[in-house]
Amino acid sequence: MSDTALFPLSEEHKMILDAARDFAENEIAPIAAEFDESGDFPKATIKKMGEMGFMGIEVPEAYGGAEMDTLAYVLALEEIAKVDASHGTIMSVNNSLFCHGIMKFGTEEQKQKFVAPVASGQKIGAYSLTEPMSGSDAATMRSRAVRDGDHYILNGRKSWVTSGPVADFVVVYVMTDPDKGAKGITAFIVDANQPGFVRGKKEPKMGIRASATSEIVFEDYRCPVENRLGEEGEGFKIAMTVLDVGRIGIASQALGIAEAAYAAAVDYARERESFGKKIGQFQGVSFKLADMKTRIEAARLLVYNAALAKERSKMTGERFTTAASTAKLFASETAMFCAHASLQIHGGIGYSKEYPVERYFRDAKITEIYEGTSEIQRLVIARLETGLR
Ligand code: CAA
Repeated sequence: MSDTALFPLSEEHKMILDAARDFAENEIAPIAAEFDESGDFPKATIKKMGEMGFMGIEVPEAYGGAEMDTLAYVLALEEIAKVDASHGTIMSVNNSLFCHGIMKFGTEEQKQKFVAPVASGQKIGAYSLTEPMSGSDAATMRSRAVRDGDHYILNGRKSWVTSGPVADFVVVYVMTDPDKGAKGITAFIVDANQPGFVRGKKEPKMGIRASATSEIVFEDYRCPVENRLGEEGEGFKIAMTVLDVGRIGIASQALGIAEAAYAAAVDYARERESFGKKIGQFQGVSFKLADMKTRIEAARLLVYNAALAKERSKMTGERFTTAASTAKLFASETAMFCAHASLQIHGGIGYSKEYPVERYFRDAKITEIYEGTSEIQRLVIARLETGLR
């Protein structure tokens, strides 16, 4: 948390921020590089994060969560991502793309059955929209669900599923009526341990390597009707509404990465000497630091603004799409800017795996891509501003 932040934090917010920071520094920092290198899923730390309430921060206690607000969520996620973006991704998907979607659109039975174990960290949740031929243009998906009595039969291939190799439950979006386009998409909560759910190829990723990502293939998967999320044809709106929340999570993650890259650059600029001076005394370095700091503070305001906008929407019902997309766009580009500048300030050492800066650089990039690329965020913001398409 920066000294220049405009938000006076409540005791409750300070508590979760301190708890997340302590946990990140004591439990995640020592293993982050090792899990990045191996690409293994950090089961033990994720389980502990569940026990601490970090996997369902806004979920009511009755459903296994910590029952806190959106500002608490972004503060905690920022602290976790500052130390390791992979843990940040797993936390974000569990909280926003999985738990939020079911809490908002699910039945009482679905909340009890699926949210409670995921919010408490006993089980892992995932969200699956993308397909090999349907990324930014999400409504063009090909996976199908066909009603068969009190079940739907799912077939198709989904891709880029965060936590796909380890998830217990996945909210998946498939076509029930292809003639209707976006209005023919329906959401289902699927149990990954049932026949017909096949985990596909694990992606060999550039960054966030400890967060497992894979394809999921449905082969005549039988999904009970009671596991449909919302009504038939409501899936696309559910997917977009949930992504608004997901994008606030990714913005917080990006802010954490930017801060980590900046802190490393400041330390190095103070220590490293060149041409008889600390390198931070050269304008070429110090102006980079000033630009990083300024962008981080601006990103922070956008992220916290988006959290407050989402909080407000609980009372007004208003959408907070612009607040979420501006925060995601600016924070992710700030993460990339800061990781790039920090690596440049470090020079050769920044390029070495012995220092975390190259990991920040690799991790930052995904924040400009997943949950809607920077180009999609610009499209969303501009369409809402102009009313033009
Ligand atoms: N909230 C509520 N409703 C929304 C909405 C939102 N944020 N955005 C759109 N809608 C509604 C629209 O109002 C419209 O409803 P009506 O027909 O009733 O008017 C309907 O949804 C269709 O909207 P559009 O016509 O705008 O849809 P489009 O086909 O033009 O697409 C898009 C819009 C913004 C490009 C969208 O497809 C999009 O966001 N694409 C990016 C997808 C994305 O982020 N994918 C990442 C997946 S998750 C991931 O990365 C992996 C992971 O595991 C983390």
